[in-house]
Amino acid sequence: MDEGILRVFQGREIEAARNHIIGKRIYKYDTAGSTNDLAFLNALKGEKEGSVFWARAQTKGRGRLGRRWVSHKDKGLYFSVILRPDIQLKEAPKITLLGALAMCQALRKFSGQPFLIKWPNDLVIEDKKIGGILTEMDAEINKVRFIIIGIGLNTNLAQGELPIKEAVSLKILLKQEINPEGLLSVCLKELDGYYYQFQKEGFSGIIKEIRNFSSLWGKQVKVNGVDAGTAIDFDEEGALVARQASGVRKHIYAGDVELLRSGL
Ligand code: BTN
Repeated sequence: MDEGILRVFQGREIEAARNHIIGKRIYKYDTAGSTNDLAFLNALKGEKEGSVFWARAQTKGRGRLGRRWVSHKDKGLYFSVILRPDIQLKEAPKITLLGALAMCQALRKFSGQPFLIKWPNDLVIEDKKIGGILTEMDAEINKVRFIIIGIGLNTNLAQGELPIKEAVSLKILLKQEINPEGLLSVCLKELDGYYYQFQKEGFSGIIKEIRNFSSLWGKQVKVNGVDAGTAIDFDEEGALVARQASGVRKHIYAGDVELLRSGL
């Protein structure tokens, strides 16, 4: 067993015992480098699909595009889940979107607040970021071996502790301290539900639902620094569709989205 594990939760002692796949085993750490790294290494060693690596703090928490994810102890919820979907490499972005939908619903159920998804991996409310998703994977030529879905949510950060001014935390929104176990269990239940749906029925129902929770519709967006047009839809693969001034529709498969001032 890895060093530093505080507890392993499994069997009937956890609420997620009733889930289909995700959260039946939860490894809780006091401090990890990155829970994505822990999950990755354990997945390589054969750890089961659905196992969760959760840390109270991370010393090397990271976000997309090599950014740092500030992870002070008990100020955020930091966890990563091992998934072993039978999909091709090009379908992997679907898992990020599935995770974003699950987290958006979990945050809504937990708090009653109208959270939205900023494609492809941010969770926002009134254009302020509350959390994000980092998916990493191991694959052979064209096939995914496993995917790690890493989730970071701002729970107990006070106003002065936010890493950027366009961020917010549940504590600020709800004006109360957040219980991480309670939130984790709602997150795992939602993730499990959508992942089970994906396994049984594919992606079409999920992408339909995500359309209702996008923060980007009607906004002028820049993707990787380049004006992309007005965000209008997702396609069946989960790409963002933007309409350019010429009327041409552009499908954007990955990237970092900024809102243009004029569209705010
Ligand atoms: C982003 O918004 O860029 C994604 C942030 C993802 C952060 C989470 S915290 C748990 C997991 N471990 C990491 O090192 N990163 C993810």
